[in-house]
This record gives sequence, C-alpha cells and structure tokens, in this order.
Amino acid sequence: MILLNPGPVNVSERVRNALLRPDICHRESEFSDLLKGIRRKLLLAFLPGAESDYTAIVLTASGTAAVEAALLSSLPTGKRALIINNGVYGERMSGIVGVHRLGVSEFKLDWAARPDPEKLRLALRQHPEVYAVAMVHHETTTGLINPVKEIAEVVDSQNRAFILDSVSGLGGEALDISGPHIYMVAGTAGKCIQGFPGAAFLLVRKGFMERMKTYPKRSLYLHLPNYYETEEKGTIPFTPAVQVYYAFDAALDELLEEGVANRIQRYKRAAGLIRKGMAAMGIKPMLPPEVQSNTITAYHLPPGVDYQTLHDRLKAQGYVIYAGQGQLESRIFRIANMGALSEADLTGFLAAFQTVVETSAVRT
Ligand SMILES: Cc1ncc(COP(=O)(O)O)c(C=O)c1O
Repeated sequence: MILLNPGPVNVSERVRNALLRPDICHRESEFSDLLKGIRRKLLLAFLPGAESDYTAIVLTASGTAAVEAALLSSLPTGKRALIINNGVYGERMSGIVGVHRLGVSEFKLDWAARPDPEKLRLALRQHPEVYAVAMVHHETTTGLINPVKEIAEVVDSQNRAFILDSVSGLGGEALDISGPHIYMVAGTAGKCIQGFPGAAFLLVRKGFMERMKTYPKRSLYLHLPNYYETEEKGTIPFTPAVQVYYAFDAALDELLEEGVANRIQRYKRAAGLIRKGMAAMGIKPMLPPEVQSNTITAYHLPPGVDYQTLHDRLKAQGYVIYAGQGQLESRIFRIANMGALSEADLTGFLAAFQTVVETSAVRT
C-alpha cells in the first residue's frame, strides 16, 4: 500500500528489517548504546554545529505526548502558555494547556492564515503572566508553513520561551533551530524521519533544560527533567519500545546518509510532481504556493465527488489518501508525500486519481 497520509509513512526495507535486531533488556549496556546513538544522531541531523548547546530527549510515545511534555515542563510557578492556533495541532496544544489550566486566551487565527509577529508582540505585552509561547511549524491540517523565524524573534525579544511543534516538519522542512533561539522542538520518528510511530523526541536548549529542573513537576510520565537526568545516565525512566528505537536508529542513519537538505529537496520535488499533476486535472489547492509545505497539499474536493468514494476507490488501487480534519472535514482532502516513496509511486497515484475522478460512479 502506498501511504499518502502524513504518517505513519512507508519505510525502507532497511528500517523495517531493523525491527528484527536481537532482543535486549533496556537496563543493559546494549540499550544505553542504542539510546546514546539516537540522541547523538538527532543533534547531528537537526542542530549541526550547535550540538553542544542542545540536548535530545527520546520518549516512547506519539508526537502529542512530546508536545504535552514540552508544554507541561516549560512553565515556572504561576506562569502560563500562549498558543498560536491556526489548525488542528495548534488547537490540540490549546487543549493541552486548557486541561491543565495553564493557558491564556489563545492567539487564534483562521486555518489558512499565518500569525502576524507584531500582533503577537502586542499580546505578549498585554499578558505578563505568559512565559512560554508555542506554535506548530508545519500545520498538518492544511499543509501551511508558519513563519518560525519571525515569531521566534518576537518571542525572544520579549524574554519568553519559544516552543515549536515540528512533529510533521523535521526532516521535511528547513528549520534553523539555534539561530532564532528556539528553546525546544518536538518531533516524532514516524513522519519525515521515515521511522515507525511510537518514538517521539524533543530537542532542547541545554540552558533551558537546566531552568526547567526548577519548575514544578506537572506529570509523572511527561516531566522532561526526569528524562534528561536518566537519559544522561544512559537509561530511560520507563520501559521503551525497544524495536521501534532500533528502526528509529536505522532511519536516522538513512537520514544522515541522504542528508537533511537532500531529503527536503526530495520531498519538495515529490510535492511539485503531485501539484503539477493535480493542476493538470483541474484540482484546486486550498493554499497559495508561497505558504505550502514540501510534504502535504490540501485540495478542494472536485465538484460532485465525495471524499469517501474517492478514498475507497483509490485505496482499492493501492493508494491511501487523507481526509480533511475538523471544520475542513467535508470540504478538502490531503495528499502527503512523506516517507520512502519513489517517483513511480507518485505517477502511479496520479494516473489512478485521474481514472477515479473520471469515473461517473464517484459522482453523487
Ligand atoms: C503538527 C503535528 N503535531 C502533533 C501531531 C500529533 O502526533 P501524534 O499523532 O503522533 O500524537 C501531529 C500528527 O499528525 C502533527 O501533524
């Protein structure tokens, strides 16, 4: 099956075969070596040249847990988080701080709009109780890229901590983490890194990690200083998904061999191929090209075509596409191009799409 959803993704044989490495105990030196390798490779891939200023924390969890860990661990007593919300994953962060009563009224935008840094500056001046500001890098809901550098600069200039959810961005989009003082970035193994779901991670500025040690502990499983302390000793506080880590390690090797910049270019070319093919069929994208990511394109459903029929008929030919979410559920569909996909996979998909759309049976 060719997966054109934004994770889990198709993985290479090498990554799949890594699942079959020997059984090990996570309290033994073999696991310490594996964990050490993953943490080192994450810094090499995403913070080249700034490895010594950051640390990588690995969790057995999905991306949401990494984001929740970042938000819960980053607030001093009495301080709150401001969430920039322009999609499902911004909304999810608002939900997280809402559950824990750690938020202020959110910075909510239309789902196709990008945040204005000057409006954020004003909001931060009006809310001295805000300490952390969080935003999604690549809003998977629509495929929109948020203006990370501009927002990070405003947050830093106001002496607040900037936290980025790059769960669907890292490995697929260029991201300068150390330049604009991003304090913490959440990611996952199972999207553009081309591993399996089940392992998530955080890249954290070491100085900020030291400060977080003095902040209140708000979760047993998701308290980052606890992970840091244990992972620095070569172990992990809770039983890890060892086999998923094996595959994560292999996926990081592949990423480093390919080069992050080359991976990004490969994805960009793949998105370009899909976009050209869809445009030739008259299928309209939801977003203008200048804000589109390299890995997802959201399209309006062709007139008279319902999503379920489109999905089911493409799946019957071996291609999984993805529905819209939330308020966009009945209006759009998404095509992702993350993962170990070949050009033939994408041209095959475009041919199948054309046949399906032309077939009168999909018309309501
Ligand atoms: C931007 C973003 N953040 C967070 C998540 C949540 O990740 P997970 O589903 O692994 O919990 C996703 C998942 O697609 C995402 O795209």
